[in-house]
Amino acid sequence: MTNEGQGLDRGLTNYGDRDFARYLRRSMARSMGVSTELLERPIIGIATSPSQFNNCHRYMPQLAEAVARGVLAAGGLPREFPTISLGEVFLNPTSMVFRNLMSMDVEEMIRAQPMDAVVVIGGCDKTVPAQLMGAASAGRPVIQLVTGPMMTGRHKGERLGACTDCRRFWGKFRAGEIDDEEIQQVEGRLATTAGTCAVMGTASTMACITEALGIALPGTAAIPAVDSQRLVAAEETGKAAVRLARSPITPNQIITQESVENAFRLLMSLGGSTNAIVHLTAIAGRLGIRISPERLNEISDETPVLVDLKPVGEGYMEDFHAAGGVGAVLRELRHLLHLDCLTVEGTTLRERLDCPAGWVDRKVIRAFDTPVSKIGGLISLSGNLAPGGAIFKRAAATPSLFEVEGRAVVFEGLEDLAARIDDPTLDVNADDILVLKNAGPLGAGMPEAGYLPIPSKLARAGVKDMVRISDARMSGTAYGTIVLHIAPEAAAGGPLAIVRNGDRIRLSVSEKRIELLVDEAEIARRLSNWVPRPSPERGYARLYHRSVLQAPDGCDLDFLVSAPNNSNV
Ligand code: FES
Repeated sequence: MTNEGQGLDRGLTNYGDRDFARYLRRSMARSMGVSTELLERPIIGIATSPSQFNNCHRYMPQLAEAVARGVLAAGGLPREFPTISLGEVFLNPTSMVFRNLMSMDVEEMIRAQPMDAVVVIGGCDKTVPAQLMGAASAGRPVIQLVTGPMMTGRHKGERLGACTDCRRFWGKFRAGEIDDEEIQQVEGRLATTAGTCAVMGTASTMACITEALGIALPGTAAIPAVDSQRLVAAEETGKAAVRLARSPITPNQIITQESVENAFRLLMSLGGSTNAIVHLTAIAGRLGIRISPERLNEISDETPVLVDLKPVGEGYMEDFHAAGGVGAVLRELRHLLHLDCLTVEGTTLRERLDCPAGWVDRKVIRAFDTPVSKIGGLISLSGNLAPGGAIFKRAAATPSLFEVEGRAVVFEGLEDLAARIDDPTLDVNADDILVLKNAGPLGAGMPEAGYLPIPSKLARAGVKDMVRISDARMSGTAYGTIVLHIAPEAAAGGPLAIVRNGDRIRLSVSEKRIELLVDEAEIARRLSNWVPRPSPERGYARLYHRSVLQAPDGCDLDFLVSAPNNSNV
């Protein structure tokens, strides 16, 4: 038999008789056709979430098989187990509500079942964050394997990739530039292979972040889902998990203040998704790590955008992989990184980056001195409209709209927005500021509704961008002059709740400010009349509503976050 507390003997079921529990467990394990020889090996859990409601995880069974192959080859026993699956576009009201539920599923199933280490396989937007949040809390040695991005499709001689091109063509359709027949053709050509969205959206950004954190094997973040190298990476991940089971390194040794800063720095250089700020904050929060908005802005101002991919630039994830991937970017950032950070391989980031770099395509991954942009893509804003902060993706915005004051055109919520945005009688001009309320974590589960459509009468007149602000999120594949994650949100009684049509709002990217130009006494008077909405009555919605934190705290549930770590910067 294995040692007490390891392998199959880990965490025995409570019957009041440990020997009986061990004997019964071994009997049931043998009923699955596992030999007694294999039952003595270290056990590697493989957390999977395939679902026919999750296109991004279509190849997960093949990946799990390849991981298991690697585990067996290295002398471990693979045990695959399911968790819930979050297919981004198949969930109502929004996948974000369920990220925390999945994290609880992952945490509890890792902790409850007998595994010495675990490989978590994920891809679609909320999956990797949920898995890392759960694994960080469970404390068992973990390696992340991502499913990899889709390949692009083709339409009339140009490449298409979900979902930046989804939005671009939808914008053309709304503006009357393409007809019904063409938008249907595009619909069938946007997402043609297995994998996650083909641009540097949330899924790809989070995949790259896992590599920068050191919790995924080097070079694995960007391999396309359908590339045979991804199966090889899965096999190697399985082998590495066995090494990790034999010489344990726990998530809190890898996800540290320093590695989280490295990950934020990579995020800036990628021009990555605004959602990654929320997710990385939530992952770090599980280990008591917090990066302040001021530190975020310092990192952003010091870190150039080096990667020329959509939605900020031109290329797709397949180009990024061929260009050198995360390793090439980290080498450019080397002098700004904390190099002593430990990785799942037991080596440091310095040791990784000391290995010779391969060929790098400088059209896609720029050298530090010839960046796409000299400053990072994302910043935190503050001001009386967002006392708790807000996020702005300057890399994806229109510079001529960086210093503006405009009239508020207010939508009270998502239904109001849908009902009136295309109303030909809507009183709106191109220099107005569109304001969406009640789309934050409490108000609506924080959907990706921050990319408010340009009112169709303005779109048809050729308006491509205008300032839009909300407490919502925005898809990592979207672009525009858009202020997001305003905190406190309207549904929590933040100042956003009392903005009225015609109020003046000022955005200053240089000052990192978002201001409601209304007298403070009038703001206080309006807030004193604000009435919260009732909570849901039952189920997970009730738990979520009672416990969800605001965006600057990662939108985690308050009882899942760890107390601040004293080593925080
Ligand atoms: Fe899954 Fe885009 S729909 S990553």
